[in-house]
Amino acid sequence: MRILITGANGQLGSQIIELLRHRIPAGQIVAGVRQMEQAAHLREQGIEIRYVDYDMPESLSAAVQGISRLLLISSPHQDDSVRLTQHKQVIAAAKAGGVKHLLYTGLAFSGWTAGKDTPDNVHALTEQAIAASGLEYTFLRNGLYMDFVGVLGLKEAMSSGELVTAPGPWAFNAVTRSDLALAAAAVLGTEASGNKIYELTASQTWDFADLAAVLTEVAGSKVVHREDAGVQHWIYAFLSRLDTSSTSRDLEQLMGRPVTTLKDSILPFLE
Ligand SMILES: NC(=O)c1ccc[n+]([C@@H]2O[C@H](COP(=O)([O-])OP(=O)(O)OC[C@H]3O[C@@H](n4cnc5c(N)ncnc54)[C@H](OP(=O)(O)O)[C@@H]3O)[C@@H](O)[C@H]2O)c1
Repeated sequence: MRILITGANGQLGSQIIELLRHRIPAGQIVAGVRQMEQAAHLREQGIEIRYVDYDMPESLSAAVQGISRLLLISSPHQDDSVRLTQHKQVIAAAKAGGVKHLLYTGLAFSGWTAGKDTPDNVHALTEQAIAASGLEYTFLRNGLYMDFVGVLGLKEAMSSGELVTAPGPWAFNAVTRSDLALAAAAVLGTEASGNKIYELTASQTWDFADLAAVLTEVAGSKVVHREDAGVQHWIYAFLSRLDTSSTSRDLEQLMGRPVTTLKDSILPFLE
């Protein structure tokens, strides 16, 4: 069994590889990267490095040789139509190259919109293309990365005693990349057959009042949450397009432990 992981120099991919190498022999792991020199440390650990560029089908055909399982980490390209094309090129190469099982990191909150017959976003469309390819698949539907808290003015809130946000019935299921990486490594480290779908979200959501309570604990002084319709930030437009409130036990079950607490998750954004 050889597993190719794309985006291996990225934040999620690198954490998955680091965790996976403690679960399976390094010789079974192949890191797919664009910057070979950045991945030199992996070669020293016995991990093969292959050049993978979603925009270059010839690189994909070469990279999938001898690969039985391929983890496609979704492209970070800003344009979803480009992302979909990139993903489809990986799927086609996997199919043509004899890959048995394709895993894809999508998004938990982007399923098919209720009432619509067809998927309408890059992750659902990619999943549809994978299913149509006939490859065996696993969909790792990731929760929202915790990163968005970084633009909420947490440090300012701790100084002023007020976490000021746009009004709304916000409920978040945001998780850390390290939790997601642990779940992905658990899936990759286990031989499995058949199609699987995992909703990699926490079993509970949190809201801005919870966040203010955690900031109070960290600051050691009261931080209250206040809504203000005058708050303008692109993050609210982004968040309002997603229903980030769905929950699942899949992530905790795969990790074998609860998700990282809200407090521990936000600490890196307070440094
Ligand atoms: N769940 C969420 O809330 C959320 C939020 C943001 C993004 N995402 C998705 O999650 C993915 C992984 O997250 P991350 O934090 O690991 O992102 P990241 O650190 O930006 O890593 C993305 C990886 O994709 C690689 N890549 C970019 N274009 C490529 C191409 N044309 N061909 C092959 N590889 C390419 C990059 O390679 P280089 O190192 O060579 O640049 C990088 O290694 C993102 O790409 C995005 O699709 C999810």
